[in-house]
Amino acid sequence: MAQAQAQVKVGIPNDLEPYWMPFTANRAFKKRPRLIVGAKDMHYVASDGRKVLDGSAGLWCTNAGHNREPIVEAIQREAATIDYAPAFQFSHPKAFELASRIASLTPGDLDHVFFCNSGSEAVDTALKIALAYHNVRGNASRVRLIGRERGYHGVGFGGIAVGGIVNNRKQFGALFAGVDHLPTTYNREKQAFTIGEPEWGAHLADDLDRLVALHDASTIAAVIVEPVAASTGVLPPPKGYLERLRAICDKHGILLIFDEVITGFGRLGTAFAAERYGVLPDMITFAKGVTSGAVPMGGVVVCKGIYDAFMKGPEHVIELFHGYTYSAHPLACAAGLATLDVYREERLFERARKLETMWGQAAMGLKGLPNVLDIRSVGLTVGIDLASRPDAVGKRGMEALELGFFERDFMFRAVGDTLALSPPLIVTETQIGEMFDKLAKIIRQVA
Ligand SMILES: Cc1ncc(COP(=O)(O)O)c(C=O)c1O
Repeated sequence: MAQAQAQVKVGIPNDLEPYWMPFTANRAFKKRPRLIVGAKDMHYVASDGRKVLDGSAGLWCTNAGHNREPIVEAIQREAATIDYAPAFQFSHPKAFELASRIASLTPGDLDHVFFCNSGSEAVDTALKIALAYHNVRGNASRVRLIGRERGYHGVGFGGIAVGGIVNNRKQFGALFAGVDHLPTTYNREKQAFTIGEPEWGAHLADDLDRLVALHDASTIAAVIVEPVAASTGVLPPPKGYLERLRAICDKHGILLIFDEVITGFGRLGTAFAAERYGVLPDMITFAKGVTSGAVPMGGVVVCKGIYDAFMKGPEHVIELFHGYTYSAHPLACAAGLATLDVYREERLFERARKLETMWGQAAMGLKGLPNVLDIRSVGLTVGIDLASRPDAVGKRGMEALELGFFERDFMFRAVGDTLALSPPLIVTETQIGEMFDKLAKIIRQVA
């Protein structure tokens, strides 16, 4: 034991090989690992002791900042009180409390919450609820699901089927039958360098009418979109687009699902994007920010009409044959309640709204730097497209990420050659300035 420990470098495990890392170039990473050994507020601590400014809220999730005392303490207390309570046929009080708190943040009659453990599970849950909803109402022919090109809905079979990212789909067989896609709302020619929602593109929602004409409304269960497609590079919805999608869904009895795994919990300056855009979906999926990333949790908020449709028949019978061992896990619920307290007490959603203009202008300051093809910002998030190196798509983005982490003490996301930022909502104006200064230097370095 003592000998094994002696071989371990400070903070770097001796053997990196057995861990197959998700969505990571494993061989490159293991040659030059980017390891994190600590976190506090706006910073990570790298394995060599450097403080690294977090420009990505981890993976779009630590909206309250890192290792916040109230959240840490709530998790510690809960772990010492109930390690686990069965999710089926039993429960614990914090599950109900958290459901009420979340329902109080969602608009309209979105008032019932189904818990799971990740965004991917939330998406698959929402799709299953959509199918089952039509089924219990006697519309069993409504089985088609509509997603959108460039949409990211996690990695479950449902999520990759409605998702619109070729790399996430092409290796995984025939996927799910009966899925179709709306076109992406992004068009660089018409929208480049826009702060907020672009003027051009509302008409792209009308493609749903085309799909209805092709398949017939009686076969379509639901449409799922991210209000802002974040993972594929921050694509805000064109003005009027979401309203139009809602109207077409209403006309044809199709459910509308907003995947708010990233846009939920303040990223766009409101609790949910549905509130920012004044468009009420039938379901909202969430994850990430609900616990500020501290414990895995996801869920689906459904409207009253959907919940009520299931609450029929003999009362001893299970209404929805779906759920997870760890649905509403006590640690996640404790973390969620403490996180929502932090958001409320520190008015973090409002803070994001106030910072949005300054953030967008700072981001646009990168326009004109070498290889910058487009910048899109909305809420506290931004996507910056860099031109790819000839025959090496993604290499410039990866170089930028490495330079950021190792030389500039700065972390952000690189999705191919698109750099994406989404800081914790506690970020200060000075730190925003610091982030875009660092980014400008990095973009010049990878020219
Ligand atoms: C919109 C959206 N849906 C679903 C997911 C999947 O979430 P998870 O990685 O927690 O499964 C993500 C993850 O980034 C997301 O952005």
